[in-house]
Amino acid sequence: MNPLDELFEFLRFPSVSADSQFKSDVDACAEWLTARFQKMGLQAQKLPTPGHPVVLACNERQPGRKTLLIYGHYDVQPADPLELWESSPFEPVIKGEKIFGRGSTDNKGQIFAHILGIESVLKEHGDLPVNLVVLVEGEEEIGSPHLDTFLREHISALQADVVAISDTGMAAPGVPTFTYGLRGILCLEIRLRGPAADLHSGIFGGSVANPATVLSRMVAKLHDDCGRVAIPGFYDRVLPLENWERDLWTKLPYTEQSWLATTGSRRLWGEEGYTFLERVWARPTAEVNGLGSGYQGEGSKTIIPSKAMAKLSFRLVPNQDPSELRPIVTEFLKKQCPDSVEIEILHQHEGRPYLVRPDSAFGKAAQRALSETFTKPIAFIREGGSVPITQSFKDVLGIDTLFLGLALPDCKVHSPNENFAIENFNAGIRLNRHLMDQIAEA
Ligand code: BES
Ligand code: MN
Repeated sequence: MNPLDELFEFLRFPSVSADSQFKSDVDACAEWLTARFQKMGLQAQKLPTPGHPVVLACNERQPGRKTLLIYGHYDVQPADPLELWESSPFEPVIKGEKIFGRGSTDNKGQIFAHILGIESVLKEHGDLPVNLVVLVEGEEEIGSPHLDTFLREHISALQADVVAISDTGMAAPGVPTFTYGLRGILCLEIRLRGPAADLHSGIFGGSVANPATVLSRMVAKLHDDCGRVAIPGFYDRVLPLENWERDLWTKLPYTEQSWLATTGSRRLWGEEGYTFLERVWARPTAEVNGLGSGYQGEGSKTIIPSKAMAKLSFRLVPNQDPSELRPIVTEFLKKQCPDSVEIEILHQHEGRPYLVRPDSAFGKAAQRALSETFTKPIAFIREGGSVPITQSFKDVLGIDTLFLGLALPDCKVHSPNENFAIENFNAGIRLNRHLMDQIAEA
């Protein structure tokens, strides 16, 4: 079967981990992936967790060989808003030089490139240069809530020397990119309840608190006028950026213009005193991911809504800790809320930040693999996104993670019309081959 047709089969599963209506699709996707690993001659299993299953594949361990753990995820973000997709999110198509579909970059396309790289070596040599463990989970996009326990329960099967993940970005097309830091995350939802039901805003307006107004005021207090998060203690553990990083970053192929073009925003905004890259890669933030209250339909409806809700996430940087910040943030929000409404805060997922020195022996091996795959010099970057399990690889398995991402700045991960450049898919296959060789010799 043509590799792209096979990738399309993988992309057709609507494996949305966040939404329980897709539970059986998530499971079917894991089943497909398990069979795919078995077909190429690896031992593979679909292993249950209290949430979505983990797919674990490996070759036969041989003493004296390095062990490489490749991690990825087969779950995807919800596809909405559907009307903004130019083609159906789960019916992948090729347009120009790109594959369009939910998960095409994040992360099915990237993990499938690894799979094809492994398979091509197996076909040529009947063997791999390393002991290989591939862990593909189904809950990354919801914060990997069960993976930490899974690591502890399967610790001997997962013993490895280093982890490789292709689930991050490339600085620009054709620029090999070594990502050495990721932000962490803390997610929660605020629910406010005012009157027992929506009220006539003329008969009652002025006499009771409007939850939409109360929530707007609370959200507005998250930042001060300089774009800093105004929660006391929020920045206490933030590690300052080192000079070598600041110097390296000024040489990267990112400009305010390119960033504006990628985002489609009118202008850049953020914490005063930092460049836009510093704000995204090395400073924590507070974001509103969803906000709702009252009438959203056509025309007007004169009510005081009974309820208001906001979904918030905080991106965290080394050495902030989401479990330490959760009570601090919760306390702050509750303090901002007047007793004219009832507040409930739902705690959602979290993930720790990650930072590693790029110049370890395995780091250098990965850099050699990048240089063999691409022709341009390597960009050393951090990223603003999160891969929540990464710090647990260090804590539970004692090993570092190498991020060798293939996502282009305009690939629209988590957005409508997510896409993956076919060139990057092919580069990923080559990269995997070089990576196994280089890790074997490191
Ligand atoms: N692949 C992304 C993370 C990413 C994207 C890192 C681009 C660097 C550059 C990953 O699948 C992701 O989206 N993670 C979520 C985790 C969250 C839902 C707990 C994220 O960062 O929002
Ligand atoms: Mn993602």
